[in-house]
Amino acid sequence: MSEEAKLTIGDNSWSFPIIEGTEGEKAIDTRRLRNETGYITYDDGYGNTGSCQSSISFIDGEKGILRHRGYGIEDLAANARFLETAYLIIYGELPSQDEYAAFRGLVHDNTQIHVGMENHFDGFPLDSHPMAILAALLNSLGCYYPDLATNDRDQDLENFDTAAPLAISKVRTLAAMTYRMKMGMPFIYPDPKLLYSQNFLHMMFSTPYEKFEASDTVAHALDLFLLLHADHEQNCSTSTVRMVASGGANLFASVSAGVSALWGPLHGGANMAVIRMLESIHKDGDDGSRFIEAAKRKEARLMGFGHRVYKNFDPRAKILGEACTRVLDELGMNDPLLDIAHRLEQAALEDRYFIERRLYPNVDFYSGILLKAIGIPVEMYTVLFAIGRLPGWLANWREVASVGDGRIHRPRQIYTGSTKRDYVALEER
Ligand code: SDX
Repeated sequence: MSEEAKLTIGDNSWSFPIIEGTEGEKAIDTRRLRNETGYITYDDGYGNTGSCQSSISFIDGEKGILRHRGYGIEDLAANARFLETAYLIIYGELPSQDEYAAFRGLVHDNTQIHVGMENHFDGFPLDSHPMAILAALLNSLGCYYPDLATNDRDQDLENFDTAAPLAISKVRTLAAMTYRMKMGMPFIYPDPKLLYSQNFLHMMFSTPYEKFEASDTVAHALDLFLLLHADHEQNCSTSTVRMVASGGANLFASVSAGVSALWGPLHGGANMAVIRMLESIHKDGDDGSRFIEAAKRKEARLMGFGHRVYKNFDPRAKILGEACTRVLDELGMNDPLLDIAHRLEQAALEDRYFIERRLYPNVDFYSGILLKAIGIPVEMYTVLFAIGRLPGWLANWREVASVGDGRIHRPRQIYTGSTKRDYVALEER
């Protein structure tokens, strides 16, 4: 007989089935809990709650394992490219050569945006945050491609294979155009001969009279950065995408909500906060030790450290840390922020405060230094995270849209406000 969980409250007892995932993680299936007991669960922040069953990514936070469709992140980082990993995350299998060529062809054919979208940039104040612009423009893609954004779940699912590569391609163009607008520079149209990351850097940094040609080192570093951000189970922004998708909203609206969720400094916004933290430590002439003490007094937060799931190392941080050293060496650069980051990591890993709280570098700790080395401006860091995470958001949208019963996500709550009371006329208050 399969395992069951028994719940006893007073003189009553109930049994609930246990669900076990393919990697052995177990859950108590509480879908009948309220109907049978009248009770709900309470789990502020969902740290103990599984919101879905998913076959896209698996994390073992204790062992520092991250796998996409069964492939280890280390394996993919060493051997695959970003678009290949995007295909794997979305469709569940590594693409054959023909499948990969077709997918890249769709991305390649969709790099240019509808010329009408250029007008949006005239309306944004120059100091607008790029994430606000990206969220708005990703959602507006549904206006230019209404057949791909009908909010008719079956039709949007049927058109997914057209919409997904279109979104993956255009997010890069919109991001580059956002940067150009903020810098007061003319838009640079994509070059169809360039690969995904090279084309992005071309659209970011070329000028009308001089073409920016990224070195293989820089292009590969950016490709690796995007690959390492491609998906990460039910993080804040991915769960937001699933929540919006559960209402039947199209994929452009859903991933736009993901961008907004990612922007927060506790989530994707941390990569910008890490660089600003390191620059502030450097400017203060601190070797990091004063900052560590401030963090222990809770006067500061060691941005890029800690994780809700990884209670050991974040495998992506290890790969990014190695990539930082390699890329800076290959570019002949010496960034004092990398030395400070290494010192902070070493100090924290030996300090009881961080050890007790199982705080280790996460994906954001080194990613900013790598982006800085390849010339990406700080304000664009979280935008780059969003470009990388888009395949994961699309795969999760597809997973929600494909589920037969397609129930809308609607959590319960514990109400703590005023109990029933009657209206008092204004003249009596
Ligand atoms: C991402 O979920 C994902 O998968 C996200 C992500 C992805 O790929 O999608 O991996 C990307 O968002 C990575 C995280 C980026 N954020 C940061 O680097 C911001 C700094 N980190 C923290 O704010 C924090 O660690 C979180 C938000 C990441 C996790 O927060 P939790 O799980 O809610 O942990 P907590 O705030 O309850 O902290 C537990 C204890 C507290 O101390 P005590 O109250 O027990 O004394 O650890 C302390 C916290 O004060 N703590 C830190 C700390 N993080 C937690 N102390 C100093 N520096 C930190 N960074």
